[in-house]
Amino acid sequence: MDSILVRGGGELRGTIPIAGAKNACLTLMPATLLTEEPLTLTNAPRLSDIRTMTQLLQSLGAEVASLQGGKVLSMSSWRIDNHTADYDIVRKMRASILVLGPMLARDGHAVVSLPGGCAIGARPVDLHLKALEAMGAELDLRDGYVHARAPGGRLRGAVVEFPFVSVGATENALLAASLAKGTTVLKNAAREPEIVDLVHCLRRMGAQIEGEGTETITIQGVDRLGGATHPVVTDRIELGTYMLAPAICGGEVECLGGRLDLVGAFAEKLDEAGISVTETETGLKVARKNGRVKAVNVTTEPFPGFPTDLQAQMMALLCTAEGTSVLEEKIFENRFMHAPELIRMGARIDVHGGHATVTGVEKLRGAPVMATDLRASVSLILAGLAAEGETVVSRVYHLDRGYEHVEEKLGACGAQIERIAG
Ligand code: UD1
Repeated sequence: MDSILVRGGGELRGTIPIAGAKNACLTLMPATLLTEEPLTLTNAPRLSDIRTMTQLLQSLGAEVASLQGGKVLSMSSWRIDNHTADYDIVRKMRASILVLGPMLARDGHAVVSLPGGCAIGARPVDLHLKALEAMGAELDLRDGYVHARAPGGRLRGAVVEFPFVSVGATENALLAASLAKGTTVLKNAAREPEIVDLVHCLRRMGAQIEGEGTETITIQGVDRLGGATHPVVTDRIELGTYMLAPAICGGEVECLGGRLDLVGAFAEKLDEAGISVTETETGLKVARKNGRVKAVNVTTEPFPGFPTDLQAQMMALLCTAEGTSVLEEKIFENRFMHAPELIRMGARIDVHGGHATVTGVEKLRGAPVMATDLRASVSLILAGLAAEGETVVSRVYHLDRGYEHVEEKLGACGAQIERIAG
């Protein structure tokens, strides 16, 4: 297993190109299952999660070609010849559940393994299933699989009111409803930019959808969808992560392709902490103003609130802030597993339930640490860049799920970072 060695202490200066969003790409790819015509995604990120989704789609009979070094995904599902998403692939990645809605909508039946447990809490898929049931699906849960059928071979439009906001359930429902018979109204829908991106793509394919980016999305089902070419939206989590690099280390970095509307609540917190963020013609420029970062309180919320996927990285910043910060995690239980690792580097963090109190220290110290999940792993790299001495982050396969070329991107700005093959 590879690890990443970081030598901390230096300022960062330069530019970092931001890739297409992993989470958008993972929901756009299953849209190929809705049509016999080709669907091409440009600006795709080069990540292991994307390769896992490629394998899953191929196992169902889709043709998926990775072009231009992986930046373009050309997909074609002229027919689905296997309607079972196997546990061996699904267990690697929860987003696999997103093939359920499209297969069911197109062919009236699908069998998908239930995703297993996950390092950041229980994460059930009940809301996905309830939405599909509301559209008429008959579901049978046995042997760890969801066996789904649409009576008469077709889902029908319905009013679906989510009890709380779920990105994945909104996506599954959107994918399914676009081919259902009649009108579907999604209430309390997620408003994330990845949802808006999915709707833009579905619209290019011929879907009739209104209200994306608001709490109520209305889908007028159509009989068939066609092919399209669609650019994947910028990854706001990769963007926020690299915005934190100069914030933690000092210096100035421009994140190419960055947009404030993707990271509004996060940028506000950076400003409060004493980090300057300015829009340029090509992206977002981030610099630490004079002196130490100031403590700020952060609560994670669905978009447009502060994203849970930036909580771990923000904690790395606050470890060296002046004063005491409280981070409240409202989306996932048990998402503070990076805290004990940061403590190994000299951080002062007290986790109590869904809250973490961080009392800033002058300096972190390098240490061997272990990545526990995707965002935790990158938070440890950021902390290592700011620490005195060497930090070795092990189990970086988590990192490779969500960040392409981390060493090159940070290295180009002067960071001392290298991968150790293991
Ligand atoms: C997506 C993102 C993930 C991000 C999360 C929240 C992808 C591939 N992943 O995950 O990176 O951290 O949004 O922004 O896009 N829940 C249920 N039942 C369900 C579904 C969700 O109880 O059927 C709960 C979850 O356990 C969690 C909350 O709802 O507590 C929100 O989860 P959700 O928005 O669905 O996250 P994902 O779509 O899994």
